[in-house]
Amino acid sequence: MKEKIEFLKDEINNLVVATAEELEAMRIKYLSKKGEITALFTDFKNVPNDDKRSVGQLLNELKDLAQQRYNILKESFSSKGKTDTDLDLTRTADPISVGTRHPLSIVKSEIIDIFSRIGFVVAEGPEIEDDWNVFGALNFPPEHPARDMQDTFFIEKSPDVLLRTHTSSVQTRTMTKHQPPIRVLCPGRVYRNEAISYRAHCFFHQVEGLYIDKNVSFADLKQVLLYFAKEMFGADTHIRLRPSYFPFTEPSAEMDISCNLCGGQGCPFCKYTGWVEILGCGMVDTNVLKNCGIDPEIYSGYAFGLGVERITNLKFQAKDLRMFSENDVRFLEQFRTI
Ligand code: DAH
Repeated sequence: MKEKIEFLKDEINNLVVATAEELEAMRIKYLSKKGEITALFTDFKNVPNDDKRSVGQLLNELKDLAQQRYNILKESFSSKGKTDTDLDLTRTADPISVGTRHPLSIVKSEIIDIFSRIGFVVAEGPEIEDDWNVFGALNFPPEHPARDMQDTFFIEKSPDVLLRTHTSSVQTRTMTKHQPPIRVLCPGRVYRNEAISYRAHCFFHQVEGLYIDKNVSFADLKQVLLYFAKEMFGADTHIRLRPSYFPFTEPSAEMDISCNLCGGQGCPFCKYTGWVEILGCGMVDTNVLKNCGIDPEIYSGYAFGLGVERITNLKFQAKDLRMFSENDVRFLEQFRTI
């Protein structure tokens, strides 16, 4: 009997099973009631008493081996079965949702990209500011209405701590810290005490530009703004400058671009004028240069400030400003491919 047991052990160890039928055949052959191992147990009574102990041990080992082999084969076979039948490895993977960039970020980055190609670098400043950086140094007279509580959010009064109302405050900080040549772009969030509606919000975003060097002229400003308009809105875009007033620039101007919706023909968006205003600009006032420690006898420069929401609206025609801060994914997802 010992030889028979050894023979079956070898056989079981070397067994290869490829299909469900072969696995079932193995079970029947070794483990069923009519199987070979059961038959050996039946014969066990004929084993001489002296050998019973050792043969019984071998027989039990054989039975355990057969059962284990069967379990392992069944396990591997059933997971193999799953791969073959339930999983389609050729199917494309489920798309991973990676979110979208905010439209204002997309446009801000594009503005930075356009100006960085002609040497502007990004400068940043704090959103919580003081009166000097936001108004005083920028030549706002003490009684200027912009300082009014109606327009500015004050955190503290005397000394004034307030939320900046424009990114021109970064001009002040940059010029106070660095001597020319200065060529910076200052993107950031600004705050104004406005009632929230589809066309106004109490916070929005601006990008400020500043260039100070020897012999900088209004012609340089105009050329740079024309370059920006064409890069941003297309090569067919025209610009026009209208005289205006800002305390920190002299002369000052506002810039319009030809309406990019109707190509300048006139439409409801441009109120049938063919033009839309996109920024304020001018030559930095000599008082501002002096306030920041720059000698106006040696240096001159230009500045401009534009609203990121305005440019974004022109590019994407979002009709309601509030959509930019509501975080509604139905709105944001529309910018997925950009
Ligand atoms: N700071 C102005 C505003 O908030 C925008 C502006 C106008 C900035 C003219 C400038 C400029 O640098 O030269 O409305």
